[in-house]
Amino acid sequence: MKQSLGKLRVDFVCGAVAHRLRFGGGRGQALAKAMGLRAGKTPSVIDATAGLGRDSFLLASLGAQVTLIERSEQMHTLLVQGMERARQEGGEFSEIMDRMTLLQGDAKDLLPGLFAEAILD
Ligand SMILES: C[S@@+](CC[C@H](N)C(=O)[O-])C[C@H]1O[C@@H](n2cnc3c(N)ncnc32)[C@H](O)[C@@H]1O
Repeated sequence: MKQSLGKLRVDFVCGAVAHRLRFGGGRGQALAKAMGLRAGKTPSVIDATAGLGRDSFLLASLGAQVTLIERSEQMHTLLVQGMERARQEGGEFSEIMDRMTLLQGDAKDLLPGLFAEAILD
């Protein structure tokens, strides 16, 4: 992964992700349905393989609270930068960022703690 990240950028504000936000079909999209988002139901979601954050962004744009876990330090850094740019964009983007919590580490290590927190909540 290290050698291929040079030109990679996480961009929630322009391009395909922003287009999907405008014209993607909302809760009718397959991912949203699969995650159980429907009228009156907005679950919290853990994206255990965050990558470029596109799936997490979609779910957060539909109202879900999303915890993103990314193992790669480089990908995590790209996500931090992309999320910061989106926050600076303000408005809807900032609101979506408020629903996204990013963690760095291996999901195998972090998930047990997250489940324990959820049970205690
Ligand atoms: C195919 S990408 C995911 C794409 C993502 N769904 C999106 O919307 O952009 C897979 C990512 O998961 C991360 N990953 C794989 N195994 C992981 C693990 N056990 N814990 C955390 N992140 C992991 C990889 O570093 C990689 O960035």
